Amino acid sequence: MSDHPSFTGRAAIVTGGGAGIGFGIARAFARAGARVAIAGRAEATLRRSAALIEEGGGEVLVVPADVAVPADCARIVAATVERFGGADILVNNAAHFALVPLLDADSDVAAAFLNTNVAGPLNCARAFAAEAIARGRRGAIVNVSSIAGARPAPGCGLYSASKAALDMLTRSMALEWGPLGLRVNAVAPGHVATEGVIEDFRAGRLDEAKMVASIPARRIADVDDIADAVLFLCSDAARHVMGQVLTVDGGEGM
Ligand SMILES: NC(=O)c1ccc[n+]([C@@H]2O[C@H](COP(=O)([O-])OP(=O)(O)OC[C@H]3O[C@@H](n4cnc5c(N)ncnc54)[C@H](OP(=O)(O)O)[C@@H]3O)[C@@H](O)[C@H]2O)c1
Repeated sequence: MSDHPSFTGRAAIVTGGGAGIGFGIARAFARAGARVAIAGRAEATLRRSAALIEEGGGEVLVVPADVAVPADCARIVAATVERFGGADILVNNAAHFALVPLLDADSDVAAAFLNTNVAGPLNCARAFAAEAIARGRRGAIVNVSSIAGARPAPGCGLYSASKAALDMLTRSMALEWGPLGLRVNAVAPGHVATEGVIEDFRAGRLDEAKMVASIPARRIADVDDIADAVLFLCSDAARHVMGQVLTVDGGEGM
């Protein structure tokens, strides 16, 4: 973990903040002094993660919610504003991932990716932006994309398409909302050693040694590598950074 500028006095929302990269991001914001709202579908997971973060001294609001449901996105923002008096940062991290060959990718399968990975971030961001604009507050949004959004991989067609759409939404949000006081950017991780990826190594679906050999940094990212980039993009150090997709992959996608 790196030293960060202080986020004391700010409130951050992290969707999918109960596990994996989102948990790492929420923990990093709390360590940097922010109050944090974490949203996800499994309340028990959220509560366990909130307790871990609070052990380190942070203040955490748990919001059970499904970002694929538009009303839940509005509720995540409303609950944060009610508890913390406002919301300064939104990290759209929650996403649906599955390997699906395109021959099997019918409309229902496509909807699962698009509702969670595109409409979810859009609806959370719209609720966040409307609230910030109405109160005359400045704000920062970071969308968690993937290097998969810029290159195809077998079985990843819909996931890649959803992340490519998210990258373009990031630029469009920045264009429309930048003049209204909101900075919108994205991070695009390569492989990160989350539980899902570690399980893929264990099950032989991914070859860890081969992957490490293909990454110029010669290691797989941990969640703090991604959290550091998100906190940078939300900090005043990135005050003139708008509509960018920051790749954080140790060179994996080059
Ligand atoms: N891990 C990687 O190697 C990697 C690489 C590139 C990009 N990414 C991106 O990084 C982000 C986080 O990935 P991760 O690997 O950390 O995922 P993860 O370990 O599977 O965690 C995802 C989190 O999102 C929540 N979530 C999923 N669907 C949701 C929904 N519809 N509504 C609300 N919450 C939902 C999950 O909680 P519930 O199931 O309880 O809802 C969980 O807390 C994603 O955007 C992913 O695309 C990951």
